[in-house]
Amino acid sequence: TIYNVGFLVGSISSTSINRRLARALVKLAPQADLALTEIPIADLPFYSADHDTAIPAEAAEFKKGIEASDAIILVTPEYNRSLPGVLKNALDTASRPWGQNSFAGKPSAVIGGSIGPIGTAVAQQQLRSILSFLASPELSQPEAYIHMRDGLFTEDGEVTDDSTVEFLVSWLKAVHTHIAKTLSPVT
Ligand code: FNR
Repeated sequence: TIYNVGFLVGSISSTSINRRLARALVKLAPQADLALTEIPIADLPFYSADHDTAIPAEAAEFKKGIEASDAIILVTPEYNRSLPGVLKNALDTASRPWGQNSFAGKPSAVIGGSIGPIGTAVAQQQLRSILSFLASPELSQPEAYIHMRDGLFTEDGEVTDDSTVEFLVSWLKAVHTHIAKTLSPVT
C-alpha cells in the first residue's frame, strides 16, 4: 500500500537545513511506498482562541491538509533546546477548535537535523510530548537524530553518504509499518 504522508518543516529559514533533510526524505520516500507532500506552516497566523469562532482561512486549509493525510512527518530543528515557535503555533492551530483536533488518531513520526551532535534530541522529546497529548500515535523507534555535518546533504536534498541514505530509507520503512499498524489494527 502506498500511503500519502503530509510533512511539516519546523523552520521558515530560507537556508533551513531541515528543509534539506525534508527534500531528501521526499526523494527517498518511494523506496518505502510513501508519497510525501508538504503542508506549509509559514503563512499561518499566530493561534488565538478568538479563531475558535472565526477560523482564519489559512488555518482551516492547514487543518484540512492534516486531516486528508494518512499520517504526518514532522521535521524539526532544535531552537534553545525546544521546538521552534512556528512549529508549536502550527500544532496549536491544528488542535483547535476544541473537539476538532486534526491530529486525533493520526499516525505521526518525528525527525530533525541540527548542526550540533545532539541532533535535535531535546526538541524531539518535547514534540513527542505534545503529539502524545494530541492523541497522535507516534513512531517511537527508531529515533532519528540527524547531525547535519557540512556537505552531508546538498541544497536540493541529495545525501552524499551511503550509510545515511540507508538509515533514512530504513526509518521511512518503519514509518510505513507504523502507519499500516495504526490504520489497520488486528481485530
Ligand atoms: C539554534 N541552534 C541550536 N541547535 C541545537 O542543536 N540545539 C539548540 O538548542 C539550538 N538552539 C538554537 C536557537 C536558535 C534561535 C537558533 C537560530 C539556532 C542551531 C540550529 O541547529 C541551526 O541554526 C539549524 O540550522 C537550525 O535548523 P534550520 O532552521 O536551519 O532548519
